[in-house]
Amino acid sequence: MADEVLELRGVGVKRGGADLLRDVSWRVDEGDRWVVVGPNGAGKTTLLQVAATLLHPTSGTVDVLGERVGRTDVFELRPRIGLASAAVADRVPAGEKVIDLVLTASYAILGRWQEEYDSTDLSRAIGLLEMLGASDLMNRTFSTLSEGERKRVQIARALMPDPELLLLDEPAAGLDLGGREDLVRRLGALADDPAAPTTAMVTHHLEEVPPGVTHALLLRQGAVVAQGKVDEVFTPEHLSACFGLPLTVERRDGRWTARV
Ligand SMILES: Nc1ncnc2c1ncn2[C@@H]1O[C@H](COP(=O)(O)OP(=O)(O)OP(=O)(O)O)[C@@H](O)[C@H]1O
Ligand SMILES: [Mg+2]
Repeated sequence: MADEVLELRGVGVKRGGADLLRDVSWRVDEGDRWVVVGPNGAGKTTLLQVAATLLHPTSGTVDVLGERVGRTDVFELRPRIGLASAAVADRVPAGEKVIDLVLTASYAILGRWQEEYDSTDLSRAIGLLEMLGASDLMNRTFSTLSEGERKRVQIARALMPDPELLLLDEPAAGLDLGGREDLVRRLGALADDPAAPTTAMVTHHLEEVPPGVTHALLLRQGAVVAQGKVDEVFTPEHLSACFGLPLTVERRDGRWTARV
């Protein structure tokens, strides 16, 4: 049996009287490629924040990379987790250069200060930017990038510390059709790479699910509607229940579409 990377048991998150997550149990094994799908406000970002140890659940237990959250030093755990989300992008200091944004991920910090990077770090950062098709942006200021360019740089940053768990919150949000297709192709290549980290990505759109995804979890109003192998989860029944719409679902060439 594969090693477990993440295990949530009976996780609940309450904020201001609202249940953001309700009794969520989720196990992610080494090598899995998960997608978390659900409508706006379903709790997807909250779930990823819990997995990234950035948010403490109100109830239940969270084990990440063999450590029980709450009983371990999260500052040792966090560099082992790569996270790309709008919340991270919003905290990038003004004037931060793209290459520095990727390099500082080795230390799980934002904003270059006085760290010394060796040439191995530098070539890794450049290699990751190349893999994401963003190496020509290396010397640009992050804040001047387009949405699509930012997304690719953020994924390079998330991969920089060679994380054991990669979490991507809506990596394709805000991209145009060409940008989305390009990113889905790159994420598909990552999913197929056996050396790539165990991954969980969030999206609302089945069109953004890269080929190579192995598992899916559907969330609605903070609760799990279905989870398991992607083919068993992406059924019209489950997706209709998840989005509250009568949906038909198609799979072609490894890609998914859903429509009313
Ligand atoms: N501090 C808070 N207090 C009360 N409600 C909150 C708080 N933070 C988030 N929420 C609510 O929790 C719900 C889940 O939020 P979350 O960001 O996890 O959803 P999501 O599935 O990521 O949605 P989206 O697809 O729009 O990104 C939302 O209805 C949100 O308004
Ligand atoms: Mg969200």
